[in-house]
Amino acid sequence: MSDPILLDTSDGIALVTLNRPDKLNALNYALIDRLMAVLDMIETDAAVRAAILTGAGERAFSAGADIDEFSGSVRQGRDTAIRDFVRRGQAMTARLEAFRKPVIAAVNGLAFGGGCEITEAVHLAIASDRARFAKPEINLGMPPTFGGTQRLPRLAGRKRALELLLTGDPFSPERALEIGLVNRVVPHDALLSAARELAQRIIRHSALAVGGILTAVTRGLNMAIAEGLQVESEQFAALVPADDLAEGINAWIERRTPRYRGC
Ligand code: COA
Repeated sequence: MSDPILLDTSDGIALVTLNRPDKLNALNYALIDRLMAVLDMIETDAAVRAAILTGAGERAFSAGADIDEFSGSVRQGRDTAIRDFVRRGQAMTARLEAFRKPVIAAVNGLAFGGGCEITEAVHLAIASDRARFAKPEINLGMPPTFGGTQRLPRLAGRKRALELLLTGDPFSPERALEIGLVNRVVPHDALLSAARELAQRIIRHSALAVGGILTAVTRGLNMAIAEGLQVESEQFAALVPADDLAEGINAWIERRTPRYRGC
């Protein structure tokens, strides 16, 4: 059986590929568990400064949770469905959202259900002009379960999100751009190079500063502003004794490009 997640690291960037193309990269439990293990690996690998997440094959980023599999958990009753399906999927999107290195989705095709929820959860996203998004869970008689009722309204606003959640209608990459779900739309053949170029523009900076910004923004968004400002202050305080801050400031004073460890 082929690995449900492919990992290929070069120039500080981990390319992570959801790899079930014959099932439109549907997120079965084995794929989610393997993705979590790969995230553990690359988070502690100093050679990796950023990750790009994409889908194998010509058609899909991901068509969402594996309906054949999770329907079995649903048949086993509420406790099993929550434990095996909902908690697993929520843990995956929460892990991506809180990752200390930037994660960029390169949405190469269908991003339905859980595929859309991954796009909502990651830090940045670039869509191919062939991408297609949807929140189709309503067609199955259920609300989204991997964070889709929570993150999309925060990104797009309540009414825009509710229209997509309540109709289940597919939407274009241009609409995804308008509502803040993706950062840009590029021609299909330029997708991975655009994602790499964005990653490179981030990883030339201090990894500590990048991690501090990711943490402050992600945690702060779900807090009152006074608590968010406290997180911002803590992230800065953690950098004060670090070499990178001294190097960044000295480089500015000396009118040169900073040299950070690992860059
Ligand atoms: N779970 C499990 N298998 C899935 C899947 C999913 N979410 N989405 C697609 N697949 C499988 C299909 O069963 C099919 O497998 P098969 O060839 O062994 O029968 C294969 O992927 C190709 O999908 P298919 O439905 O034949 O392609 P299509 O072009 O006709 O339709 C979709 C594409 C995305 C519209 C359709 O696959 C679909 O509605 N998928 C479910 C999307 C969804 O509701 N996701 C949210 C789940 S909570």
